[in-house]
Amino acid sequence: MFESTIYENRRDDLKNKFDSGLLLFLGNEESPANYLANPYAFRQDSSFLYYFGIDRPGFTATIDIDNNFDTIYANDFSIDDIVWMGPQPKVSILAEGVGIKRTAVLDKLAEQINAAIKKGRKIHFLPQYRYENITKLAALTGMNSTNVSDYASEKFIKAVVNQRLIKSEEEIKEIEEAVDIAFKMHLAAMKMVKPGIYEQKIAGMIEGIALSLGYGLSFRPIVSVHGETLHNHFYGNLIEEGQLLVNDSGAESKHHYASDITRTIPVSGKFTQKQKEIYQVVLKTQLNAIQSVKPGINYKDLHMQAALDIVTGLQEIGLMHGNPEEAVNNGAHTLFYPHGLGHMLGLDVHDMEPLGEQFVGYDETVQRSEEFGLKYLRLARTLQTGYVFTIEPGIYFIPELIDIWKQENKLKEFINYDKVKEYKDFGGIRIEDDIIVTEDGYRVLGPKPIPKSVEEVEALASGK
Ligand code: GLY
Ligand code: MN
Repeated sequence: MFESTIYENRRDDLKNKFDSGLLLFLGNEESPANYLANPYAFRQDSSFLYYFGIDRPGFTATIDIDNNFDTIYANDFSIDDIVWMGPQPKVSILAEGVGIKRTAVLDKLAEQINAAIKKGRKIHFLPQYRYENITKLAALTGMNSTNVSDYASEKFIKAVVNQRLIKSEEEIKEIEEAVDIAFKMHLAAMKMVKPGIYEQKIAGMIEGIALSLGYGLSFRPIVSVHGETLHNHFYGNLIEEGQLLVNDSGAESKHHYASDITRTIPVSGKFTQKQKEIYQVVLKTQLNAIQSVKPGINYKDLHMQAALDIVTGLQEIGLMHGNPEEAVNNGAHTLFYPHGLGHMLGLDVHDMEPLGEQFVGYDETVQRSEEFGLKYLRLARTLQTGYVFTIEPGIYFIPELIDIWKQENKLKEFINYDKVKEYKDFGGIRIEDDIIVTEDGYRVLGPKPIPKSVEEVEALASGK
């Protein structure tokens, strides 16, 4: 846990946004994998962690705005719990550690919520994403579990989002620590990759690095020679001569802050000419986007600039043609670059995604689009000092998508389908780093740069 004053200050800032009502925070429970006593690794809810820091299952908290007190609801371990899971500090001690004096057993929670509802007080809660908490919330509020999250408090969501969007010193330190672990994971993968081994060997090894150093993973790694599948979690392919391996993986710090890094490695140690050309386009696009970061820049504009860079680069290779701006305006780049440039990063790898992308990634000035490509843009708001996010352009050759577009001759004025045919087994390339907006520009997070130039990646992959 951080110092208790950090949690007290965070709660005070939040309280200042409200005149009345009860703010309800549901911590997470153990989540069974295949039977109750065999749960997945416990992961606390990130908003609970942010305001209350207690990293254990079975906790709920409230902030009573009208009476100005915070309460932690949880049950102390019974002797049976201690026999199976070992001793745990008393709830009152854990609460004190985050600056809270009032604690109560879980049964009291329903009483307090009921009393507040009877008095007509507003219960502010956040949207829930775990079924046990959806059920719990429905029982507490008397609402239907099928749609209780629809009644989440917009005021509460916005207050939490606005606070968590700006990363403080201690949070940046945590993210940098997580990037440092990702550095180790990515370098090890670059050195290890070679034809004749299975993807799982690398996936297992990088996961082992994070765990053996006492860290977790921030998400299930993508380690694949089929990088054209954006979220490919299959590790069973044999790595073959001449392929590209996409490694999209990151660690989670001790306080659960995430890193999210992608590198693409030539498995034979050297890029082919064809691969190098595409790699250089992605790298140039990524560097250009990073260098454009500063307060006041709109992230959607960065995404569109990246799309234009990709089109220009693909035109030089002969895969696209026509007016580049028109190509982007018509969405022709989405055949090769169908996702968004990046997302917020923090306690969640897609930070605060359960609170609603429209509140986290978008502001009043930008509306979500339903167009192919743009609908996957998770971040489109105007950047402010202290925002942390990823920049992760990519170029992919997705055979099924190419076939559909080709059949329709879609946007043929911008796409050279004869040439694209030659790339159908190419795979994909993505390069991703974690960036913070500073007062006068940006900083790429992490104590040392993670190699990404052609020369650096080839040197590591070929063992030089
Ligand atoms: N690292 C996976 C993603 O950004 O979606
Ligand atoms: Mn990412």
